[in-house]
Amino acid sequence: MKIIMLGAPGAGKGTQAQMIADKYNIPHISTGDIFRANIKNGTELGKKAKEYMDKGQLVPDELTVELLLDRVANEDCKNGYVLDGFPRTIPQADVLDSELTKLGDKVDYAINVDVPDENIVNRMSGRRACLKCGATYHIKHIPPKTEGICDKCGSELVLRDDDKPETVQNRLSVYHEQTQPLIDYYDKKNILKTVDGTKDMQEVFDNIVGILNA
Ligand code: AP5
Ligand code: ZN
Repeated sequence: MKIIMLGAPGAGKGTQAQMIADKYNIPHISTGDIFRANIKNGTELGKKAKEYMDKGQLVPDELTVELLLDRVANEDCKNGYVLDGFPRTIPQADVLDSELTKLGDKVDYAINVDVPDENIVNRMSGRRACLKCGATYHIKHIPPKTEGICDKCGSELVLRDDDKPETVQNRLSVYHEQTQPLIDYYDKKNILKTVDGTKDMQEVFDNIVGILNA
């Protein structure tokens, strides 16, 4: 099963993608997490990506597309995967589509996690992220068992550099301009499924599972 998560920054794509990955035993592939891991490790890619991410802009397609295609060519992706944060532009979606077509394959579902802009800023300011394993928490809604420590791997949790309110506003405008058109794109392919992302985490997940098991 090949699944794409769509939705505004902070809509809960990463949270739901991880739950899907755990239930269906497929990898959760987040381009944002890959970039953040590169930044943490001080790689060349990380240095380049950081310039864009800190401003809330998209990392250029040249740096993103190859990286993603390499990742999904991995052995662990042969039974499917859930993509979180990719594609983010129509050109990225076109490349993914044509690469899959070459393999006689296709995306099965594009899940759009729908959350209005008003709810987003509050979610971002409360988010705490694990830069080691990619797990995400929220200080009020989804707290870790021990404050500031990742339940899964024991690493320290941090506020992401791009979660400052000014940057969040910019990420939202970039989303509306460059990523939201993908909703129509996948609707035309008849694989778009929209869920109400304002519900609590488990309810959103139950709705997604209902779609995937239908
Ligand atoms: P990326 O890491 O993909 O960030 P994003 O799309 O902005 O999405 P987020 O990770 O912020 O949010 P999310 O929807 O995953 O929400 P989450 O589950 O964490 O990308 C970061 C940057 O990298 C981009 O700005 C860009 O520069 C670059 N980049 C990445 N991919 C790229 C690409 N393909 N092309 C170009 N550039 C790229 O949830 C948010 C918070 O809410 C958490 O605290 C969570 O615990 C909480 N929460 C989740 N669900 C609920 C719920 N139901 N109720 C209450 N709280 C909830
Ligand atoms: Zn962790």
